Amino acid sequence: MAVAGSIVAKAVNTGLWSLKRCRTWNFRQAQTIRALSTLMSPPSRAVVYEHQGPPDSVTRLVELSPVEVKENQVCVKMLASPINPSDINRIEGVYPVRPEVPAVGGYEGVGEVYSVGSAVKGFAPGDLVIPSPPSSGMWQTYVVKDDDMWHKISEDSPIEYAATVTVNPLTALRMLEDFTTLNSGDSIVQNGATSIVGQCVIQLAKFRGIHSINIIRDRPGSDEVKEKLKALGADEVFTESQLEVKNVKSLLSNIPEPALGFNCVGGNAASLVLKFLSQGGTMVTYGGMSKKPVAVPTSSFIFKDLSLRGFWLQKWLSTDKAKECRHMIDYLLCLAKEGKLKYEMELVPFDNFHTALDKALGKHGSQPKQVIKF
Ligand SMILES: NC(=O)c1ccc[n+]([C@@H]2O[C@H](COP(=O)([O-])OP(=O)(O)OC[C@H]3O[C@@H](n4cnc5c(N)ncnc54)[C@H](OP(=O)(O)O)[C@@H]3O)[C@@H](O)[C@H]2O)c1
Repeated sequence: MAVAGSIVAKAVNTGLWSLKRCRTWNFRQAQTIRALSTLMSPPSRAVVYEHQGPPDSVTRLVELSPVEVKENQVCVKMLASPINPSDINRIEGVYPVRPEVPAVGGYEGVGEVYSVGSAVKGFAPGDLVIPSPPSSGMWQTYVVKDDDMWHKISEDSPIEYAATVTVNPLTALRMLEDFTTLNSGDSIVQNGATSIVGQCVIQLAKFRGIHSINIIRDRPGSDEVKEKLKALGADEVFTESQLEVKNVKSLLSNIPEPALGFNCVGGNAASLVLKFLSQGGTMVTYGGMSKKPVAVPTSSFIFKDLSLRGFWLQKWLSTDKAKECRHMIDYLLCLAKEGKLKYEMELVPFDNFHTALDKALGKHGSQPKQVIKF
């Protein structure tokens, strides 16, 4: 049985388990193993996909068997985890780095330490932790990973922010730092301003005295959306159709031309960002929500000498700079705790995962970020 247990443990950790084997590997067998003193996780409920494809048809909720918690590992009872666009892209198979199938979905989240391996120092049951850097397999009730994969966070961190702090807020923070020198009084322009990244850009820019020009999709209730973004600190908010004018800069009141723009959407929405940029400005593409290529008028190159760059958090996390990542996470969580960094989320019970997934897939129009509560 110990051999079978280690097969399951290895397989789940590497995303290669056989679901059939998991089904036959029952809880009573796990208890027997525990009696023989191997530390085991509880059985875990998980969102798994056995092959890549449309997330609403390839994912299902299953019960996974207990896995061994090795001496340097920590078993975490998950509390919350978001459904991010990149999670969807991984399941669809269009993301460049993705776990081998079968796999458990999810890439960031927060949980409470449930048990620790015999050699683990620095973690105790009850500690609040996040995977840092983020890693796959978060959409399940119990996650077992090596101790160095977990980052202990302050116990009074708001759960939904702890679950979502890494992928999007950290991206916003890095993009404001890594491309041009921004000083108080400068401005930036972005599309996709309602995304979590966009909402964080607005607030983090505001703290530094940087103005933000924001572009949103046309939709019913856009005035209300504009007011919400302005309440977060946005200086200007335009719908895409408002910007179908010859001189967009004439729409700005007392804001300098931005030298930096962020593109979350692609297609025409990217051209609108370019329209605002100053001579020699830079547009950073970090998302492709419209699934359309970035459209760049020839004049942007010839007459404005604009630069097009890209940002990918996963690549940034593999650099030396990523050592500072945990400090940045603590900083962002501190802002969230103090109510200085906020964004809209909807907490959804795990049993309703597929309803949340449908919302994240855009089947019900614009929706707040869906965060699974385990
Ligand atoms: N490069 C990186 O390292 C990195 C890191 C983090 C995030 N991202 C990317 O950043 C983007 C935003 O992520 P998020 O989690 O912040 O987003 P989110 O909170 O889930 O919000 C989704 C955003 O996409 C917009 N949207 C949805 N479908 C769209 C469509 N068909 N056309 C145009 N806009 C559409 C939504 O606009 P409405 O409000 O109008 O519905 C909303 O602004 C994603 O593309 C994500 O993959 C990239």
